[in-house]
Amino acid sequence: MDKLYQNLYSDAVRAAEKSYSPYSQFRVGAALLCSDGSVYTGCNIENASFSLTNCAERTAFFKAVSEGKKEFEAIAIAGGHENLNEPCYPCGACRQVMAEFCNKDFKIILSDKILTLNDVLPYAFDLD
Ligand code: THU
Repeated sequence: MDKLYQNLYSDAVRAAEKSYSPYSQFRVGAALLCSDGSVYTGCNIENASFSLTNCAERTAFFKAVSEGKKEFEAIAIAGGHENLNEPCYPCGACRQVMAEFCNKDFKIILSDKILTLNDVLPYAFDLD
C-alpha cells in the first residue's frame, strides 16, 4: 500500500489509544486526510446515555470541518478488534456523513484494504 496511506493507518491506530469507551471497550481511531495534506484524527467518545456516543470517524470529520476544511481525500479507520489487522468497517451513520462531504472515490483505508465511499455506500441519500 502507498506509504501515505500506511502512515494514515498508523495515525488511526494511535488515535484509537485516546478512545473513551468504558461501556463497550471497543476502541476505534480514525485519521482523515484533507486535500491540502493536513490530517485530523478522532476517536470514539461514549456516553452513559448510549445514543449520545460519537464514532471515531465523525469525531475526525467534525474536528476538520469545524476548522474550515471541506475537501477530503481519504480516511483510515483502526481498532475495535484485538487484532488491528482485522478491518473495522464504518457504521451507516458515518458513511452518510462521509457522503455529505466527499466524492464517490473518497478512499477508506482499513488495515490492508482500500475501499471507496461508493463501495460502502452506493445509492447514498441526498436531496436532489
Ligand atoms: N464505533 C465507531 O467509532 N465507529 C464506527 O464506525 C462504528 C462504531 C464505536 C461506537 C461505540 O463507541 C463502539 O464503536 C461500539 O459500537
